[in-house]
Amino acid sequence: MMHEQKALLDADLQQVVKRLNSEETSVEPYREDYRRLLKNHGKMIRASLLLIFARAHEGSPSQPLAFESPVVTGAAAIEMLHLATLVHDDVLDEANTRRGEPTVHTIRGNKAAIYLGDLILSRYMEIMAEIAPSTDFIREQAGTVCEIVGGELLQESARGNTSVTRAYYERAIGGKTAALFRLACTTGVKLGADSPSPELLPAAHDFGQHLGMAFQIIDDIGDFDVAHDSGKPKLEDIRDQIYTLPVILGLESDPSFQPIVELHDPLRVLDYLQAHPQLIEAAKDAARQEITQAQQALEGAPSTPASPPSLRP
Ligand code: FPP
Ligand code: MG
Repeated sequence: MMHEQKALLDADLQQVVKRLNSEETSVEPYREDYRRLLKNHGKMIRASLLLIFARAHEGSPSQPLAFESPVVTGAAAIEMLHLATLVHDDVLDEANTRRGEPTVHTIRGNKAAIYLGDLILSRYMEIMAEIAPSTDFIREQAGTVCEIVGGELLQESARGNTSVTRAYYERAIGGKTAALFRLACTTGVKLGADSPSPELLPAAHDFGQHLGMAFQIIDDIGDFDVAHDSGKPKLEDIRDQIYTLPVILGLESDPSFQPIVELHDPLRVLDYLQAHPQLIEAAKDAARQEITQAQQALEGAPSTPASPPSLRP
């Protein structure tokens, strides 16, 4: 990404953070919980994608966006949707840390975390309704939330099933993660800074979907990367009997791996993967292929955005 584009993105992101901080709830303990979440807001990849695609057309403004801009508002709302899903996800996964800090339910209990997620999700919907240029825009937002939940449900229904296929895994992560990446990109185009460019929609759609697939595959590989701190618990998926790509590839290629997985001992699975590094390599290859497809989606698009965030596996 060119230096000026990065500077613009940083300035726009600052407005998004300001917009997120301007959200208020009158219920005191929830206010505190929300503040704690925002203080540790992460990389804001989804908001960045929205901003990049909002600026992806010819003649987009060379000045930072104003606080009141619908693009800033939309980017803040997309991050709110993401936050809401994470707060609920950490309850479901019984994860104690995220971004290096204790999770909401660890501090305040499951009930408070569910309510906080509900509250943030509701505000996301309300904000998107306020800035929606069309009914279709709202339909896409709501439909994508359904897809995210659908992906989670697919994952949940396969829990503990050692016959789970790669195609099934791809459908699950396509819903739970890639759909939101895709939504961030298409929402950016639809809210486009100054003027929306519908001709960019197919590229934004495919780019977001493939980048999201790559992101989740890398996240799933990271769960086994015990040597590197990611601010999240390690071996979480295998402990929860969620079989991700490296494990699925092992199950498909070696019948002797299944009884090891069925011992339900995360360390035995880790040992196996460490002894068979080709499985992690093959999963990384799958992520690289998704990134290539994401790049291809941009080629030939009318006016392409700056290079995507670095997610090289
Ligand atoms: C993280 O996956 C979780 C998601 C990508 C989606 C979670 C979605 C829900 C719980 C659906 C319901 C919530 C709302 C508000 C509609 P992960 O557990 O693989 O990643 P992690 O390592 O970051 O926890
Ligand atoms: Mg989780």
